[in-house]
Amino acid sequence: MRVLGLETSCDETGVALYDSEKGLLADALFSQIEQHRVYGGVVPELASRDHVKRMIPLIRQVLDEADCAPNEIDAICYTAGPGLVGALLVGASCAQALAFAWGIPAVGVHHMEGHLLAPMLEEQPPAFPFVALLVSGGHTQLVRVDGIGRYQLLGESLDDAAGEAFDKTAKMMGLPYPGGPEIARLAEHGTPGRFVFPRPMTDRPGLDFSFSGLKTFSLNTWQQCQATGDDTEQSRCDVALAFQQAVVDTLTIKCKRALKQTGLKSLVIAGGVSANQALRQSLEKMLGGMNGQVFYARPRFCTDNGAMIAYAGCQRLLAGQRDGPAISVRARWPM
Ligand code: KG4
Ligand code: ZN
Repeated sequence: MRVLGLETSCDETGVALYDSEKGLLADALFSQIEQHRVYGGVVPELASRDHVKRMIPLIRQVLDEADCAPNEIDAICYTAGPGLVGALLVGASCAQALAFAWGIPAVGVHHMEGHLLAPMLEEQPPAFPFVALLVSGGHTQLVRVDGIGRYQLLGESLDDAAGEAFDKTAKMMGLPYPGGPEIARLAEHGTPGRFVFPRPMTDRPGLDFSFSGLKTFSLNTWQQCQATGDDTEQSRCDVALAFQQAVVDTLTIKCKRALKQTGLKSLVIAGGVSANQALRQSLEKMLGGMNGQVFYARPRFCTDNGAMIAYAGCQRLLAGQRDGPAISVRARWPM
């Protein structure tokens, strides 16, 4: 089965072609980050308009790269949510229109299921069952995964997502959007131990998270630096390191707990924050100590992309899922 995947949930237009026998044939991405950066975050209306502009050229590019004619495509999958409604509608209407024109089915895919399954595109994919840590700009969740569509939520953030906390911490220190990679870059030059931030909700049982307090802690620490005239580049690096270390430790503690609770030894990390090297190293160390293994996607497939949607949609189609021609998307959608 050959599937075209379209991703438009936020600020990246992603298109990919996946073949259930040959694997990923081509993928292309256009990131709108530069356009949103001047506003310090994603402007939904600008995002929708840009998806409209990029979608068809990207589809052409992918089909050319894969040397694939439209009549060789068996289905189209698109992100149906969660995400920005206007942005989602661009992918959904484009997918439904092409599916109608080409006489093939279109299937709506859950964005977080796409992230969750992205490591399956790697050479050594994880085997079911496993625990997945989904860490993106909009979600922080621990999920037990027993197979495609067999997901059990173990815990989630009660307030900000981990990526959101990275972005907000970066913004209040005057760093550009998106803040995750900026914080990670500064943290490399931070002084270990200068600031120590709390590890929220790790002192009580359970697998839920809370990151909004950490963001406030960063703000207070930075304001203290400003008040004492110590708001230097080095202080920025030191706050970045303390913040990142607190997020990484908190996620690592909860992942360890989830693995213990489920008795599983495979951990998948997915979503934009899974590109963070300090997080990967910390989880690898923890898993190494318990004879387990951690899996993640290549950096380009950690953040939003079309390949994960083509892959997840293909699995859904192979399992028999078919959607009607209605163009419907959801801003919020539990997985
Ligand atoms: O999965 P994603 O591309 O979009 C959503 O579905 O939200 O994730 C974007 C998030 C942003 O918050 C961004 O700051 C964060 O992932 N991110 C990172 C890194 N790269 C991206 N956070 C920490 N370290 C990174 N290297
Ligand atoms: Zn995402």
